Amino acid sequence: MSTPKKPGKTPPDKHVDEFSGVSTTGHEWDGIKELNNPLPRWWLWTFYACIAFALTYSVFYPAWPFGSKATPGLLGYSSRAEFAATMDAVQTGNQAMLTQIAQTPVSDILADPELARFATAAGASAFKVNCTQCHGTGAAGGPGYPNLNDDSWIWGGTIDEVYTTIAHGVRSLTDPDTRYNIMPNFGADGLLDTAAINQVAGYVASLSGVKGGQSTPEGATIFAENCVACHGEGGVGVVELGGPDLTDAIWLYDGSLEAIKAQIQKPRHGMMQAWSEKLDDVVIKELAVYVHGLGGGQ
Ligand code: HEC
Ligand code: HEC
Repeated sequence: MSTPKKPGKTPPDKHVDEFSGVSTTGHEWDGIKELNNPLPRWWLWTFYACIAFALTYSVFYPAWPFGSKATPGLLGYSSRAEFAATMDAVQTGNQAMLTQIAQTPVSDILADPELARFATAAGASAFKVNCTQCHGTGAAGGPGYPNLNDDSWIWGGTIDEVYTTIAHGVRSLTDPDTRYNIMPNFGADGLLDTAAINQVAGYVASLSGVKGGQSTPEGATIFAENCVACHGEGGVGVVELGGPDLTDAIWLYDGSLEAIKAQIQKPRHGMMQAWSEKLDDVVIKELAVYVHGLGGGQ
């Protein structure tokens, strides 16, 4: 039985397309016919090459799932073993560096670029773990916590001084070698009366242009008689005594006239633990190199 031919519709059988001269597959959708073109040569060969590569690969490298593992492959390669070998190599390299840091005085580490680079990187990560809660992630500090990026150092900015400060802390209660100095309670202990405090505070404020500051001969005299021992002639600071520079507009506490008066009235004192009680000497050296390299090292 043959179905009658509808006008405009070709029956679904193979025939040669009249435009391209290629035979069709016999498939047709809404008048669009599929040509039976062979796959391009290059495509076919690439395809065969991929299959060949995959089979060869699966013979030499771990490939087919097999029980809880996979077929090991003739070369015995394992990414886990490669990773372990890399880690071993890094560890051995690190160990050599760490031994060298342990044996090198901290000031000599800077003279060895490779060692200094290693110590800086290690110091940066130790800083993140131990120091950022007080000195900030960028070591920029905050009220009561000194900025470690600037070149103003309360306790000195040479690598040896920075190392000593970190190792022994500041006003540590347990380390006898800690950085220690206490500013007298000028107001609270009646060493200076309110008028004198106002005058000397005005003088100190004037040294760095703090608002409300006023340099008077009285203020300068009170300063010379009571303050230069720790803050230096003209207030430039004494690092051996941890007396901050009062002329540089960098303040440990807030640098307002009120804060200056408050410090003279009843001083505050920062405390930092002696890190040698908690950290290995190698880590402290690394920290000193890192902090010294932050920009303000002398
Ligand atoms: C015995 C030493 C000593 C004497 C004397 C002394 N100071 Fe100080 N002063 C310090 C120390 C140490 C600090 C830092 C406190 C800290 O580290 O927390 C300080 C801090 C200050 C600060 C705060 C600085 C800042 O960066 O915020 C001011 C202001 C100040 N002193 C003013 C004076 C004035 C004015 C006098 C004299 C009337 C005086 N000091 C006498 C040791 C001294
Ligand atoms: C609990 C808070 C705290 C932590 C944590 C801390 N510090 Fe400090 N650090 C301070 C204070 C407060 C001072 C200022 C002491 C003073 O008043 O003289 C200071 C001072 C310093 C100074 C001296 C700055 C100068 O101008 O001389 C260095 C260097 C320093 N810290 C490094 C470190 C390093 C490195 C670590 C991490 C191992 C660390 N600090 C962790 C509170 C802290």
